[in-house]
Amino acid sequence: MKTYFLPLTALAAVTILAAALSGCSPARGSETKDGLITVPASEHGNPSSAPVQPVDYRHSIHAGQYKIPCLYCHSYADKSPVANVPAVSTCMNCHRIIAGSTPYNQQEIAKVVDYWTKGQPIPWVSIHRLPDHAYFSHKRHVKAGMQCQTCHGPIQNMDHVYQYSSLKMGWCVTCHKANLHNAQFATSIDCYTCHK
Ligand code: HEC
Ligand code: HEC
Ligand code: HEC
Ligand code: HEC
Ligand code: HEC
Repeated sequence: MKTYFLPLTALAAVTILAAALSGCSPARGSETKDGLITVPASEHGNPSSAPVQPVDYRHSIHAGQYKIPCLYCHSYADKSPVANVPAVSTCMNCHRIIAGSTPYNQQEIAKVVDYWTKGQPIPWVSIHRLPDHAYFSHKRHVKAGMQCQTCHGPIQNMDHVYQYSSLKMGWCVTCHKANLHNAQFATSIDCYTCHK
């Protein structure tokens, strides 16, 4: 059985988050509903910190309303250190056909088609970035059955993505400490684990 021992500092928020999570999970998420968060709500990022993006792409519509799996677009998250933001070609799998049901959606989807026609990547503004001296790998965490939402929050409810967890060393180490003796997925807090 895959069980995590996560710090229980935010039990109240857990119930709310678990309800929010039931709508969407990565492919492996249904195996282990860790559904827990590691920091109190007061430390969560602010929705107003979301940057303005070149296209008004909304996770709440794609990952929320239409339940497109996270790994459909972030297809390296279970295979490599980096999750990756999808290329325009991934968008065009649907938007060759789907032009939008409202004038606003049509206008924003037309921008996507325009980048595609010109052969240009969409210049998305990057949100999460660790300093170069810190090493993180998506594969290790996602393969262990961890939900994206544990670290990124309820993305499927966000119109625009913002940084939900602090990504500070203390945040990483708190969860690693709680899983030091995890029978299946033991962690380490040696400096070289995260500083190569
Ligand atoms: C249809 C494709 C698609 C799906 C499905 C999707 N995303 Fe995304 N995601 C994107 C695009 C495009 C961006 C870059 C624009 C933005 O930030 O909104 C992005 C950005 C992100 C970012 C921020 C990247 C950064 O720059 O730091 C995170 C985190 C993220 N997605 C997580 C998720 C999670 C978790 C799910 C599932 C609940 C999900 N995404 C589903 C396309 C998708
Ligand atoms: C254990 C915490 C954790 C989990 C679980 C996690 N992420 Fe991340 N994510 C991070 C951190 C930390 C970064 C910043 C990484 C960096 O800068 O090297 C990040 C960055 C990203 C980015 C932007 C940079 C990149 O790697 O492309 C995307 C997109 C993303 N995550 C999507 C996802 C998706 C989708 C899932 C679930 C399949 C997921 N993450 C699961 C912690 C996590
Ligand atoms: C699996 C199918 C699918 C994929 C892949 C997909 N979309 Fe969509 N998208 C939809 C559907 C369905 C709608 C809703 C259309 C409507 O009713 O107006 C939509 C709506 C939109 C809209 C208008 C609503 C909003 O989100 O603001 C934008 C902009 C958009 N998509 C951009 C993108 C981009 C950029 C990508 C690639 C990162 C992408 N889509 C990938 C199915 C998809
Ligand atoms: C919610 C819990 C959680 C958070 C938050 C978390 N981790 Fe982890 N991490 C784990 C678990 C569990 C494993 C063990 C996975 C396994 O055994 O395959 C792990 C494994 C790792 C590994 C692989 C260790 C090895 O022996 O090679 C690295 C590197 C790592 N984490 C770095 C980070 C960094 C850096 C952060 C913060 C940016 C972070 N982790 C945040 C739970 C977490
Ligand atoms: C589980 C992962 C993890 C472990 C273990 C870890 N660190 Fe870090 N460390 C990080 C991350 C992520 C950052 C970047 C974010 C930040 O500055 O908080 C960081 C930042 C730092 C910084 C820069 C702080 C600053 O203010 O710029 C120093 C110095 C540091 N770590 C030293 C250590 C030492 C010494 C150890 C061993 C006792 C250690 N770290 C163990 C993840 C880790």
